[in-house]
Amino acid sequence: MRAISRPVSRLDGALRAPGDKSCSHRALMFAGLAEGVSHIEGLLEGEDVVNTAKAMSACGAQVERLSLRRWRVTGVGAQGLRAPETTLDMGNSGTGARLLMGLIAGQQITAAFDGDSSLRSRPMSRVLEPLRQMGARCDSNDGLLPLTLEGAPLTGMEYVTPMASAQVKSCVMLAGLGASGDTIVHERRKTRDHTERMLKAFGVNVGQSEDGEGGQRITVRGGQRLKASDVLIPGDPSSAAFLWAAGLLVGDGEVSVLNVMSNPTRDGLVEAVRRMGAYVDVTWESESGGESLTRLTVKPSTLAAYNPEDDVVPNMIDEFPLFAVLAAFAEGDTVVTGAEELRVKESDRIAATVAMLVANGVYAEERPDGFLVRGCGRNGVPGGGVVTTHHDHRIAMSALVMGCAAKAPVTIDDAAMINTSYPDFFAHMTALGADMVREGDAESDW
Ligand code: S3P
Repeated sequence: MRAISRPVSRLDGALRAPGDKSCSHRALMFAGLAEGVSHIEGLLEGEDVVNTAKAMSACGAQVERLSLRRWRVTGVGAQGLRAPETTLDMGNSGTGARLLMGLIAGQQITAAFDGDSSLRSRPMSRVLEPLRQMGARCDSNDGLLPLTLEGAPLTGMEYVTPMASAQVKSCVMLAGLGASGDTIVHERRKTRDHTERMLKAFGVNVGQSEDGEGGQRITVRGGQRLKASDVLIPGDPSSAAFLWAAGLLVGDGEVSVLNVMSNPTRDGLVEAVRRMGAYVDVTWESESGGESLTRLTVKPSTLAAYNPEDDVVPNMIDEFPLFAVLAAFAEGDTVVTGAEELRVKESDRIAATVAMLVANGVYAEERPDGFLVRGCGRNGVPGGGVVTTHHDHRIAMSALVMGCAAKAPVTIDDAAMINTSYPDFFAHMTALGADMVREGDAESDW
């Protein structure tokens, strides 16, 4: 299903960000493993998270949707997960697949995993390797899905993550909960810390110490029991970014996003656009489940190029396609380095991002670990291209945001994947005044 975004002159309004994807996956998994009944409010009901809900229920947790975004999970308690009878289909989600592998390996049950064509091409060896070192057995030789984990007792270990990855860190930590002894994960660059924060909310003792060089060591003792907890899912800063980035680029108006989680491991794009000269106001609203909720307001801004330092990269890892769009509207050249992890996201995001810009008349170059974007500045972004999304929701949404402020409409070849993370994207963008339609939508003037 194609979609088109036509240029508009004004975006205005205040909207609530949808529930955070990372926190939604974790809430379902931890509640499913806990003793007792947990209520989850504000769950993201995107396809990725729904697949995690189905997987947890296939493993014996009682997962019920009470009403819009309100879920009740009756957990199985320590070592209570049962082997699923069918293959766990994790769809498009690396987070769902990799975290669940850790959880399941720690439960010593056998489970088969699979996913869509994008997930089947993404490396699983990064989690299988540490799991094998802990004693897990897995039949995948090529390190790709589909694969089967066979139940085996695990032993805690110290593991240094070879790449900045919250999924790898979390997988090892969750396996560690079901292993004997202590499991220590050492990450040289801090990545998103929702597993650490939420496990604590479920009563788990998580040791954290700085390594003095920008990284940290995390310790979990095996055999700890999770206690049911009520979770309010904060708004997703990565989804909110599409709304406010459009607000920065379009010539007139003011866009506010409410309920946006602010967390140092996720705030890289906000910091980056501030350095580019953007008007962004972040106001603290409340605290929830160890996370801060904020209201973020932007006004149309003239942007200057800015090169994010390597240590900022993990804090904006999901935002690079959108950052590249902002860079295309800025004055000057932007160079991104140290971002080789983008090659193994839902698509090869270095190649897909550069192709997205080039198709719309922007000069951009691939680099092995990043890209260069020549900002169009005052001349404006030409637009008028058709973008290949490669089953990647963030490429799709970034391209549509570009269309709001380009000189000619931007088309994407497939809008379907947007449902994995942001089912209300079109409704929200249109509410702000964007002119975006999907082919086949009722009343669409495609
Ligand atoms: C996530 C971690 C990141 C991020 C992904 C969500 C998580 O992946 O890109 O969207 O919830 O732990 P990596 O661990 O591969 O960096």
